[in-house]
Amino acid sequence: MVSSSSEQTIVHNKTVVIGVSGGIAAYKIPELVRRLRKAGAEVRVVMTEHAQHFVTPLTFQTVSNNPVITEMFAPMMTADVAHISLADKADLVVVAPATANVIAKFAHGLAEDFLSTTVLATKAPVLLAPAMNVNMYTNSVTQENLQTLKARGFYVVGPDKGELACGWEGTGRMSEVEDILHDITMIMGPNDLKEEKILVTAGPTQEPIDPVRFVSNRSSGKMGYALAQAAATRGAEVTLITGPASLDPPQRIKTIPVFTATEMYQETLKRYKAMTTVIMAAAVSDYRPAQQAHNKIKKENDSFTLKLVRNPDILWEMGRDKGSCFIVGFAAETENLLKNARGKLTAKNVDLMVANDVTKPGAGFDSETNIVTLLTPDGAPEEIAKASKELIAQRILDKIMAIKANRRG
Ligand code: PMT
Repeated sequence: MVSSSSEQTIVHNKTVVIGVSGGIAAYKIPELVRRLRKAGAEVRVVMTEHAQHFVTPLTFQTVSNNPVITEMFAPMMTADVAHISLADKADLVVVAPATANVIAKFAHGLAEDFLSTTVLATKAPVLLAPAMNVNMYTNSVTQENLQTLKARGFYVVGPDKGELACGWEGTGRMSEVEDILHDITMIMGPNDLKEEKILVTAGPTQEPIDPVRFVSNRSSGKMGYALAQAAATRGAEVTLITGPASLDPPQRIKTIPVFTATEMYQETLKRYKAMTTVIMAAAVSDYRPAQQAHNKIKKENDSFTLKLVRNPDILWEMGRDKGSCFIVGFAAETENLLKNARGKLTAKNVDLMVANDVTKPGAGFDSETNIVTLLTPDGAPEEIAKASKELIAQRILDKIMAIKANRRG
């Protein structure tokens, strides 16, 4: 899921033109407009004649808080919405739903209504969200038109597979609003991490005692998921290795679920050397029960002793053989924050340590916000005041990129 905070930072003060063509999926587009406006975008809606059979212009006028363009030559047309000026003003044009008909027009350069004229005239990126009957979609004419447009730099999201409004099953459903928003943030985002392959670990690990009990901690996965999502939004190829977390799996990010520290160790160690950066936000259990009972342990005595043995230290293991990988650790501390975190930075040989005093209100485990200090082997500590985990994630990524740029000289 794209966090509303990534939308917020990326589309704020940007002009997004939404072209709506005539398909039943048009009913989903007011929600897209609402989300973009909420994130601070100026949204201008252009409707084809057919689109107006599915949703009224008044709906779009209400959610966009702007007049809706439905005609090429309307008497009230002001200079700022005339097709060329809107095409110039747009930072992005999204056509959703994009029918086979409008896709064909765009591919052949027709300019016979306001939407096709705007698409032909704009220099802004154009994102299409096709929606149509499966046979129309798979028809070689539509496929060739889409190929032509992709070759000219148009972006295409979907369509998805599923039940279609015409009663057929197959590929042709418009992508969900969440996916369209994801692609909007990818297209409009800074893309400054596009050369990066980043592995993020998140969440707790669970160390089984018996089939129903385990040793674990309070990590929710929010910090790690925010890092994975922020990196993907900025163009990185992201792999997320996550312990059990009750968060929606991030979309379009390769996600590897694990339970135990040993599984996280194995999955991380076999991948990290192919990465440019690894960020260990997971709260890995330092110990696991020496033995796992096959059956539920019975309540027989007044006391019960559980013997624990050390888990492998994933970060330490990577730090001693980093290769060209940039390694980031987190230090969750309840006392002597900087001293303890710096000790871990040195012992585990990491490039950046995110020191996290988990006793502060609004910081650490399972909160929506965090408060951290960034430590490097040679620089002064940099404190990041309380902010959402999404924003903290962005700042950590900024720091990683700044250190890398500095190293390149
Ligand atoms: O998931 P949230 O609810 O959003 O909470 C976020 C968080 C508090 C979990 C996160 O911000 C955080 O601090 N993560 C690190 C937690 C932790 O295990 O800290 P540590 O100081 O025990 O470990 C230091 C580093 O070594 C960490 O990067 C850890 O991933 C790593 N480690 C620890 C033990 C181990 N066996 N292997 C490891 O790689």
